[in-house]
Amino acid sequence: MADPEKSSLAVVGAGVMGTGITTLAAGSGLRVVLVDNDQAALDKARHTIAFQLRHARMMGALPADTEPGEVVTTTSVDDLSGVDTVVEAIFEHKDTKAKVLTEVANVVGEDATLITNTSGIPVDELADLLPQPGQLVGTHFMNPAYLIDLVEVVQGRHTSAATVAGLRTLLGRLNRRAVVVRDSPGFVTSRLLHPMLNDAARLVGEQVATAEDVDALMVGCLGHRTGPLRTADLIGLDNLADSLVALYERTGEQRYLPCDQLLAKVRDGDLGYKSGSGFYQYRETLS
Ligand SMILES: NC(=O)c1ccc[n+]([C@@H]2O[C@H](COP(=O)([O-])OP(=O)(O)OC[C@H]3O[C@@H](n4cnc5c(N)ncnc54)[C@H](O)[C@@H]3O)[C@@H](O)[C@H]2O)c1
Repeated sequence: MADPEKSSLAVVGAGVMGTGITTLAAGSGLRVVLVDNDQAALDKARHTIAFQLRHARMMGALPADTEPGEVVTTTSVDDLSGVDTVVEAIFEHKDTKAKVLTEVANVVGEDATLITNTSGIPVDELADLLPQPGQLVGTHFMNPAYLIDLVEVVQGRHTSAATVAGLRTLLGRLNRRAVVVRDSPGFVTSRLLHPMLNDAARLVGEQVATAEDVDALMVGCLGHRTGPLRTADLIGLDNLADSLVALYERTGEQRYLPCDQLLAKVRDGDLGYKSGSGFYQYRETLS
């Protein structure tokens, strides 16, 4: 059970991103209240965070001489009273995000900073559904959040100066750099990256090349750090499909419609790294 007196940062959603953001914050010495409505996700997150903290320190990505902050888990947003900053990282569904953010806003009060880690839903669309639209700002922490030090920040039309200041304080404590962009479906990174991942999956479906060969070409010829299909697996194929749908619904562009190959993998439960199989097989998964 959370002790609100000692809490200042909360992360809602203990999946791929919520876990990585919690690792980053705890590893930076912050106490974090991690919320998920699925107790199993919270239990798994505890193990993942412990592993990620060791990994991040080994890589020099988090300070080895900072005592990690306490991580408190809970299934109830009611435990967030007293928290001043909340990062939302739940499924990429607008109505679910708006509902959870509203519940959170009602508990934490109007002075708190609310941050959505959506991949593609415009911040203004979510802000319009909140009691205080100025309270919301977008971040696009990349995966793994504890290793990547640049964050895409999305300032909505309504986002207040106090909210921007609250986010800057958090990013400063996390030692993260920001690039601020205007609100738009998919912002910059998802708008550019997601259709490429979709096309890469389509090429595999059309048997133009295997996943390994698509990735080998993009890494070896074009200098990508990992290939698009390994990246898709790391993101989570369910989240990728949801994010593509969010982009399609807002742009009408066919290239954002998730291809059959991607949808078939999601239907079969092959969600990528987090489920142990996707375009690749993973013997041990950590998130
Ligand atoms: N996966 C990535 O690489 C990536 C990168 C950047 C941004 N994002 C965005 O971050 C957000 C989270 O993505 P993810 O990949 O971590 O998703 P995920 O599917 O791994 O995890 C989502 C978590 O949210 C929880 N959840 C769902 N509804 C909830 C509710 N009502 N209350 C509390 N918890 C709830 C689920 O139980 C789950 O544990 C999405 O908006 C996604 O688009 C993802």
